[in-house]
Amino acid sequence: MEPLSAGEIEAHLTTRLLGRSIHYYAEIGSTNTEAVRLAEEGAPDGTLVIADVQTAGKGRLGRRWFAPPGGALLYSLLLRPPLPPLLAQRITMVCSLGVVRAIAALTNVPAHIKWPNDIVVNGKKLGGVLTELGNVTDRGQLAYAVVGMGLNVNLAPEDLPETMTPPTSLLAECGHTISRLELLARLLSEIEALYMPLCAGWSPHEEWRAALATIGEAVRVGTAEEVIIGTAVDVTDAGALVVQDAAGARHTILAGDVTLRGHRLGG
Ligand code: BTN
Repeated sequence: MEPLSAGEIEAHLTTRLLGRSIHYYAEIGSTNTEAVRLAEEGAPDGTLVIADVQTAGKGRLGRRWFAPPGGALLYSLLLRPPLPPLLAQRITMVCSLGVVRAIAALTNVPAHIKWPNDIVVNGKKLGGVLTELGNVTDRGQLAYAVVGMGLNVNLAPEDLPETMTPPTSLLAECGHTISRLELLARLLSEIEALYMPLCAGWSPHEEWRAALATIGEAVRVGTAEEVIIGTAVDVTDAGALVVQDAAGARHTILAGDVTLRGHRLGG
């Protein structure tokens, strides 16, 4: 197993901002929880919190995130883009997009985003993104966002966590191990290349839309209020999914859990 450490990570970085402050833990509860704590203490934009093992990893919708030791990348970025809360989804968009681009740059694995922010390969879940937002400042901007990313890298198929979603890893998809340090460095540089324009007012919507596996698929979306069955036809600039039902009515869903009809992919 290739060990992670703040020094090794720093030696591989090519970024100017992301990861320039590194908090590495051999074991921690959740990198997101720690990044939120550091954010509240005033840690800078681009701070990276990364761990080899999480004992209380958090997934979306209050779920747990499991990863066997040593074979995953488990990290959170503390970001402070000058954005109002209404545009917060853009922060998650650039991070998911950066993940897909880094994987494409280093492997031949066709990774896509499953709305809202799963990283998938041919319907199997390779990773997930969980964003937690800080308060709104006097200027109407988010004080911070913590974006946590969990990716199955060098996990053998038999070691993949059992979830409702069929899981996969880069090892399972490529047939060989991938350097976590090289992948992390590329992830951060791809995210940074999108984060800088985001901070200058650019919308990642078109690029994010093009990287989605969900458009055109038959879906079943569970929201807090109802279950909508139909075809995913679009995503809005705010990151909502537009689903057209059998009667032709369009539903705009801001957050939910998507299942491809008849085959559960949400997890
Ligand atoms: C999902 O449910 O798909 C999102 C999973 C996000 C997991 C990552 S692992 C690193 C970071 N720390 C956490 O506690 N969760 C995120």
